[in-house]
Amino acid sequence: MPTATLAHETDFEGWRKAARAFRLAGVEPADARFGVAGAAGTGSLFDDPPARTGSAMETQFTVPKAFVDVAQEVILHRSADRFDLMYRLLWRLKDEPDLMKVVSDRDVADAMERAKNVSRASHKMKAFVRFRAVQDEAGETFVAWFEPAHRVLEKTAGFFVRRFTTMRWSILTPDGSCFWDGEALTFGPAARAEDAPQDDEIEEFWKTYYASTFNPARLKVQTMQGEMPKRYWKNLPEAALIPELVAASRARTEVMVASQPSEPNARLAKAIARSVRDGSWEEGFVAADLEELRHGVQACRRCPLYRDATQGVCGEGPRAAKLMIVGEQPGDQEDLAGQPFVGPAGQVLDAALEEAGIDRAEVYVTNAVKHFKHEPRGKRRLHKTPTTSEVSACRWWLDQERRLVKPKVVLALGGTASLAVLNRKVAVTQERGEPLPLSDGSTAMITVHPSYLLRLPDEEARVRERAAFVRDLKRVRDRL
Ligand code: URA
Repeated sequence: MPTATLAHETDFEGWRKAARAFRLAGVEPADARFGVAGAAGTGSLFDDPPARTGSAMETQFTVPKAFVDVAQEVILHRSADRFDLMYRLLWRLKDEPDLMKVVSDRDVADAMERAKNVSRASHKMKAFVRFRAVQDEAGETFVAWFEPAHRVLEKTAGFFVRRFTTMRWSILTPDGSCFWDGEALTFGPAARAEDAPQDDEIEEFWKTYYASTFNPARLKVQTMQGEMPKRYWKNLPEAALIPELVAASRARTEVMVASQPSEPNARLAKAIARSVRDGSWEEGFVAADLEELRHGVQACRRCPLYRDATQGVCGEGPRAAKLMIVGEQPGDQEDLAGQPFVGPAGQVLDAALEEAGIDRAEVYVTNAVKHFKHEPRGKRRLHKTPTTSEVSACRWWLDQERRLVKPKVVLALGGTASLAVLNRKVAVTQERGEPLPLSDGSTAMITVHPSYLLRLPDEEARVRERAAFVRDLKRVRDRL
């Protein structure tokens, strides 16, 4: 029986070579065998090389890119029969060159589904890896233990390099490990949970952070388990809190309603005062980089909104992001945290981005207006829509963010953001989802604001509008 032995579980080049040789030799899918070398490796690809059969007519062939793209994901799937599925597709492409477009075909649908599972596993890894701090001879380093649903370590490692470039870190998994020393990424052997540190102060940080951002008023246990499947809980320090938080959610909702917003902290107030004295918000100030821009925003006195806000909330994300998302203004939680879209609207946005296949870590997220406009109502701070003149005053910052980041696409969420980006009033529902050219050569796209989805009164409208929102995000993704 023609047999190929691949060097390791995700050896795409080995599989490609073997499958090519099988197909040229006319080996039917039912007769082809693919195996994986043991830990020690057996060296050669073919123990039993395929002999050309009389019916083998091909001397060379090409396959559509769509097949290669899907196969590269499918090979990361944990199923044992993935090599056979990939070879069956390769074989069938001989007589059905458009096969990959037939999404109703069993093999194609199966491959697409496995590729989707792999992509989801990669997203979950980005969301659920938790590093613990360890001291070694070179100082502080960070180690995480993670058990991905599929073999996505190599596929996902680049994300951590981009996100934690200045740290030294290791991610250990049962499939392999990877190490970043601040300059180079290297891969090593499989690890065991005991190889990673068990707890540290970062764990406490996660617990505190999770408990303080957990919003009992919006608790939906099923949705939460959908986003954060139970299989990942055992390595998530914050997961230990979930049963308790869920049980206490009603009482906490009452406390939340009755509680006061936090006071701005004294250190922050001092830093702002310093930037105000520097004048780094005045006309003519051109920020050299995002750090300078951040200080400028803190010091901004271009309109009166700074007076009632805790702090200016600048945009956040990679310096050269291809996509910039613009919201309206920070909400109550963003104002306290100093980061855009970390409250309930941010959670809606994050989930929709993930569903649309957009990685938030690769997006620069900001707002049209950088200070929280609100009015006190009892003990709560109620959002107020900024006026056109407040939006105009703050466009100065948004334009500087666009100049520095140079996104290819600017996505405006809702009317205020659209006004800031396009400099005209926009009927969001009429112009949503369409590319609108901007004078700097980039493209604007507009859609609704995630808060709009949160405000919809009935479940059916919420489901419908959310699907339309995700559709708009997918259009954005397709333009990137
Ligand atoms: N709404 C926004 O428009 N921006 C935020 O950052 C949060 C809520």
